[in-house]
Amino acid sequence: MTTFRIAPSILSADFARLGEEVRNVVSAGADIIHFDVMDNHYVPNLTIGPLVCQAIRPHVDVPIDVHLMVKPVDRIIPDFAKAGANIITFHPEASDHIDRSLQLIRDHGCKAGLVFNPATPLSYLEHVMDKIDMILIMSVNPGFGGQSFIPQVLKKIAEARRLIDESGRDILLEVDGGIKIDNIAAAAAAGADTFVAGSAIFGQPDYKAVIDAMRANLAK
Ligand code: DX5
Ligand code: ZN
Repeated sequence: MTTFRIAPSILSADFARLGEEVRNVVSAGADIIHFDVMDNHYVPNLTIGPLVCQAIRPHVDVPIDVHLMVKPVDRIIPDFAKAGANIITFHPEASDHIDRSLQLIRDHGCKAGLVFNPATPLSYLEHVMDKIDMILIMSVNPGFGGQSFIPQVLKKIAEARRLIDESGRDILLEVDGGIKIDNIAAAAAAGADTFVAGSAIFGQPDYKAVIDAMRANLAK
């Protein structure tokens, strides 16, 4: 049986009360904290860095999943590892040396993964599958929370699932962007096991009600 994981994106949390927000969402049932790093260069938005990761680290005991939307990739990796990140993913287009960036993440004791924009081919995985612990499929174009799920990515999730099964490796398949209570089951049916949700969770007053409803739809 598949273990499903809910990974709230703190991009939509109240940044003035971030410690409390992450504690609340973990008590509400979050399995992972998704941490969106944007640099106003690779993506047209600017968010949070290692200092904020370090600040929330003592507030939660679940893994922190750092989604790097930055270019270049390598020089920020050691800082996030030191700040308590458990998983670090990056966009292959943003790295000059993909294998090196993956190895750097692993050398710093974190799990490593690649992120695929809606139009980025999965062929980047071909020669690095042995260094991958997570595949993150973007179901929106990166840069902002609150966008709509792009249904064409369901086929790509299914393709990523096939590659993971063929590899025989233990690789998380995460989907990110526009995930809501009413489309989470479709993403799971395509093969995803880890679900990022920002606005769907932090946009509601009762985080537990949203997470419970998501799990109920995954159990159907
Ligand atoms: C988009 C980010 C996502 C985003 C998800 O660039 O990577 O993690 O915050 O937010 P929602 O769930 O609101 O689409
Ligand atoms: Zn993200």
